[in-house]
Amino acid sequence: MKQLYIGGRWVDGAATTTTRSPSDRSDIVDDYASAGTAEAALAIEAAHAAAPGWGLSGVQQRADVLDAIGNEILARKTELGTLLAREEGKTLPEAIGEAARAGTIFKFFAQEALRMRGDKLASVRPGVEVDITREPVGVVGIIAPWNFPIAIPAWKIAPALAYGNAVVFKPADLVPGCAWALADIISRAGLPPGVFNLVMGPGRVVGEAMLNDARVNAISFTGSTATGERVLMACARRRAKVQLEMGGKNPLVVLADADLDVAMNAAIQGSFYSTGQRCTASSRLIVDEQIYAKFIDTMASRMAQLKIGNALHAGVDIGPVVDSSQLEQDLSYIAIAKQEGARLVSGGDRLALETEGYFLRPALFADCEPGMRHVREEIFGPVASVLPAKGYEHALALANDTEFGLTAGICTTSLKHATHFKRNAKAGMVMVNLPTAGVDYHVPFGGTKGSSYGAREQGSYAAEFFTTVKTSYTSA
Ligand code: UN1
Repeated sequence: MKQLYIGGRWVDGAATTTTRSPSDRSDIVDDYASAGTAEAALAIEAAHAAAPGWGLSGVQQRADVLDAIGNEILARKTELGTLLAREEGKTLPEAIGEAARAGTIFKFFAQEALRMRGDKLASVRPGVEVDITREPVGVVGIIAPWNFPIAIPAWKIAPALAYGNAVVFKPADLVPGCAWALADIISRAGLPPGVFNLVMGPGRVVGEAMLNDARVNAISFTGSTATGERVLMACARRRAKVQLEMGGKNPLVVLADADLDVAMNAAIQGSFYSTGQRCTASSRLIVDEQIYAKFIDTMASRMAQLKIGNALHAGVDIGPVVDSSQLEQDLSYIAIAKQEGARLVSGGDRLALETEGYFLRPALFADCEPGMRHVREEIFGPVASVLPAKGYEHALALANDTEFGLTAGICTTSLKHATHFKRNAKAGMVMVNLPTAGVDYHVPFGGTKGSSYGAREQGSYAAEFFTTVKTSYTSA
């Protein structure tokens, strides 16, 4: 059984859980300890005790630790990617790519620790100088989702440690394996005991404990909108710093002048890869009516070539849905779309393969209208809705007609429309002639409106959340 990591020691939990592969329900991944309130409290206590010392550690020490973690992840990316594919169900190439991304993120933040900077200004009072410095926040609670089981923990844990914070990490229930493998690597990298703690366990136990404990100074959360709102309220009540990454209903606009190949790659990749289980997925395809029929025909024939299957098998494009409740949600939205009068062009049915798994053929709906539920609500599955647009202005209005604002894409060969879209799309990230999903690791990530709250993640902008600013005045 894989244990919890608290205060520099591997310990048992209050219960045990067993995970199985979504590609093959007979494939048991492993048994994992699951924390109760006592273990959650111990982890918070350990982080609280370790935070002051780590906050005073030198930046070279932090850089060395993070670099060692990154090196080991990169050296073992195939093994870690295989575990990820088996546990979460994204395809092996995607999973190995994600593991490599996690390694690179640690190495990036190793360097960022060395680049921590402040400002020095003259005071308005002669003879007085002003220093602006960044300090650690203290204890950071990290609540991560299942869909990027190693990269998202990496892009929260790495900056937290780089800027001198202690961490309590709660992974999603479905993916303790990747979390444990990451914690195992971190545990051997030379951190003082208590600086990093792994607490697998239910949200209502471990998550609640972190939300309500005054010793947890900040919470970084990625997950559903409903849970995000609860996290926000709990943090607001006790004035803890909070950062939320939640849902998306991202538009991909395809103008009549688009290169159809480029648009098709962006649409297929963005809508269906990673089984559509990305908050950055393109779920609304907004297509100029001049090319609408051709776009839908071409997309249907491209979809017919997609190979759906076991995430570990070579040549598979789309792995399984992560679990039975997500599959139920996908199927129920597919039924809703049909009831609402959208036209099912392709897919949307369960697929029986040689192993028992949650296989779903990606679904394409045409003739969708902006008010339909499946067009407005995040499905988090391989389901794309096509909306016809009468020219650019209409397409932009449709793109922005959503309560979310994570990513927005446009495929066009017009510099004028691309530039206008970059300025006017109400989203935190805009992609031109690229899929809405799949982002770089060294630049900020985050959205507007209902998608995100608080400071941006990733890149040098991560310092905003993981540090607090101090302004010091000195009279010389
Ligand atoms: C990506 O598209 O490369 O949960 C990353 C998510 C996002 C990460 C997407 N926070 O899907």
